[in-house]
Amino acid sequence: MSSTGDAGAAEEGTTRGESPLLGVSGLGKAYGDTVALRDVDLSVADGEFVSVVGPSGCGKSTLLRVLSGLEETFDGRATVAGADVREEGSDRVGMVFQEPRLLPWATVRENVSVGLPAEVDPDTEGARERVDGLLDQVDLGDFADARPGELSGGMAQRVSLARGLAYEPAVLLLDEPFSALDALTKREQQDHLLDVWDDRDATVVLVTHDVAEAAYLSDRVVVLGGQPGTVERVVDIGAERPRDRTDEALLDARETITDALGV
Ligand SMILES: Nc1ncnc2c1ncn2[C@@H]1O[C@H](COP(=O)(O)OP(=O)(O)OP(=O)(O)O)[C@@H](O)[C@H]1O
Ligand SMILES: [Mg+2]
Repeated sequence: MSSTGDAGAAEEGTTRGESPLLGVSGLGKAYGDTVALRDVDLSVADGEFVSVVGPSGCGKSTLLRVLSGLEETFDGRATVAGADVREEGSDRVGMVFQEPRLLPWATVRENVSVGLPAEVDPDTEGARERVDGLLDQVDLGDFADARPGELSGGMAQRVSLARGLAYEPAVLLLDEPFSALDALTKREQQDHLLDVWDDRDATVVLVTHDVAEAAYLSDRVVVLGGQPGTVERVVDIGAERPRDRTDEALLDARETITDALGV
């Protein structure tokens, strides 16, 4: 007799997966007089790759901050695996911030080690190998002993990405992780992220300004817009995986996303 209500039935944000891992409903967030988000509904299935695009200031980073459990006050509901993010958030969720946020006094290797799970002793041989492996994947093997002050913006961003991956979280929230990278490195890092997503059956929410990147990587692309930001459109990316960047379906999806952005 009991009803489970209409959870997951929000029209715009409903996933095709069976088990929503992340969900927000009726989400509103204000910073003082500034309303950043209004009435956002979104659910992300376990194992799904979702990107969020939208103009500067529409609340993309705010949405990730709420999902990661960093925001204590907001309207509506935000859940990870059914539990309120304010209780459950940080355990399962890894976040790569828009700014690298590295410890300036620590080496690159130490900065990545900070991301290791709490139960891993960073001084063990195994932990060191893991960190060095991550540094190799982001092409920073030669900079393990450097300090953040010696790095370019793109290199710092790659350290931050490696730190986010060190934790091996079930849910990865990434805020413009590739924005400071050159075109070739960006492609390499996008493909690396797809490998990580695939290997670990991770669930990913990626914020990006790059429409081609969003289409290439994602199962669905959420277009936020307005101020306060709200969901304007959700675009399903039908292209089969593994994908070819020149696939017609991806080019079509890019057009649709660009139209929704009103560019
Ligand atoms: N800590 C804060 N205090 C006050 N206002 C904030 C704070 N963080 C964000 N805002 C405001 O909330 C709105 C959304 O900000 P947010 O950083 O989420 O945007 P965004 O979509 O990530 O933008 P960008 O693409 O430039 O990174 C903006 O109007 C911003 O000024
Ligand atoms: Mg932002």
